[in-house]
Amino acid sequence: MKILLTGGLGYIGSHTAVELLNHHHEVIIVDNLANSSLSVLDRLKKITHQEIPFYQIDVANKVELEPVFLHHTFDAIIHFAGLKAVGESVAKPLEYYQNNVLATLNLASFSIKYGVHKFVFSSSATVYGDQPSPLIETMELKTTTNPYGETKAMSERILTDAAKANPPFSVSLLRYFNPIGAHESALIGENPNGIPNNLMPYITKVAKGELKELQIYGQDYPTIDGTGIRDYIHVVDLAKGHIAALNKMKSAVNIYNLGTGKGVSVLELVTAFQNVNHVRVPYKVVGRRPGDLAIVYADPGKAKRELGWETSKTIEDMCRDAWNFEKQNV
Ligand code: NAD
Ligand code: UD1
Repeated sequence: MKILLTGGLGYIGSHTAVELLNHHHEVIIVDNLANSSLSVLDRLKKITHQEIPFYQIDVANKVELEPVFLHHTFDAIIHFAGLKAVGESVAKPLEYYQNNVLATLNLASFSIKYGVHKFVFSSSATVYGDQPSPLIETMELKTTTNPYGETKAMSERILTDAAKANPPFSVSLLRYFNPIGAHESALIGENPNGIPNNLMPYITKVAKGELKELQIYGQDYPTIDGTGIRDYIHVVDLAKGHIAALNKMKSAVNIYNLGTGKGVSVLELVTAFQNVNHVRVPYKVVGRRPGDLAIVYADPGKAKRELGWETSKTIEDMCRDAWNFEKQNV
C-alpha cells in the first residue's frame, strides 16, 4: 500500500514508518517539525536503507496540504500529527483545537475528495475519562478532563460521522495506552522538548544525571504499592498494531485499544529500570498530580481477536531500549 504518515517524524510515527517499510509498504511523510527534527529522517534512512519522500507542511493548513494529495495517490492515511502535552493544552486550548481538530478535518475531507479509503487515527485512552479499568471499547465515553483529550474525542466523532456517511471510507480509531521504549537500533526514540511531563522520559533524564530526582506523584492510591498504575506498551509493539489495523478494516468504524492489558505501578517501573540497566534513579514521593487517575489499563482482547495483534515485548525490554536511546542520543 502507499501510505501517507502525518507526524511521521515524531515518536510513534517514526517507529511505525520503520515497520511499514519492513512490510514493503510505500511511505510518504508529512510533518511540520513542531515537535520533531529533520535528523529523524536521516535516521529512518539508516535503519531502513530507503529514501522516504518528505514534506514539511502543516496539515492543519488546507492550502499546504492539498498539493500532497494532487501529487500522490494514497491507499491509506495514518494520522499521528498532533500536539500532545496535556498541561500545555490547558494553558493554550485554542492552539490545541486549531491544530488537532483542523488537521483531522482537513485529512478526512481530502481522503474523501481524493478517494483514500483507509484512515487510521492516533487516539488515546484518555477518551474513556474516569472509569474503572480494564477499559474496553464497548464502554460509553465519559467527559474528557482537558483540551488535549477533547481534541481526541472530537476527532473520533468527526471520523466516525464521516465514515458512516461516505462508504467505502473507513476509519480505525486506535486508543493508545502508555507508549514507552525505543527502536532496538537506538537511533529513534522519544525526545521531548524541555523538561519531560511523562514518566519514562523523566526517568531516563534522572538516570543520566540531567535531572536530580524523579518526583513520584502520590503514594496513597488504592494500588499494590500506593503509586499510580498504567498500561505501558513498547512503541514497536504499538507500531505493529497500526499494520494489523491497516490490514483488517472490518467495517466503516473500527475501534481498538492498543495496550498490553497489564497494569504496572510507578515504583514497579522505576525498580525494573534500575535492575535492567544497573543505574540508580533517585526519587522522592510528592503529592498527587491534579487530573491523574489511580489505575488505567486496557482490555486488549478485541485487537487480539479481530486483528490478530498482541504485544510481545516486556517491561524489561521497554526499560532497556528507552535507556539505550537516551544514552546514545539525547
Ligand atoms: P510526537 O509529538 O512525537 O509526534 C507528533 C508529530 O506530529 C511531531 O513530529 C510533530 O512535529 C507533528 N505535528 C504536530 N502538529 C502538526 C501539524 N499541524 N502538521 C504537521 N505535523 C504536525 O507525538 P507522539 O508521541 O509520536 O504521538 C503521535 C500521536 O499519538 C499524537 O496524535 C498523540 O496525541 C497520540 N498519542 C500519543 C500518546 C503518547 O503517550 N505518546 C498517547 C496517546 C495518543
Ligand atoms: C498522560 C496524560 C494522557 C496522555 C499521555 C501521553 C495526564 C493526566 N494524562 O498520561 O492524557 O495521553 O500522558 O501523553 O497528563 N508520574 C510520576 N512522576 C512523573 C511523571 C509521571 O509519578 O514525573 C506518574 C503519573 O502520576 C502516572 C504515571 O507516572 O501515574 C504515568 O504518567 P505519564 O507518563 O504522565 O502518563 P499518563 O498520566 O498516564
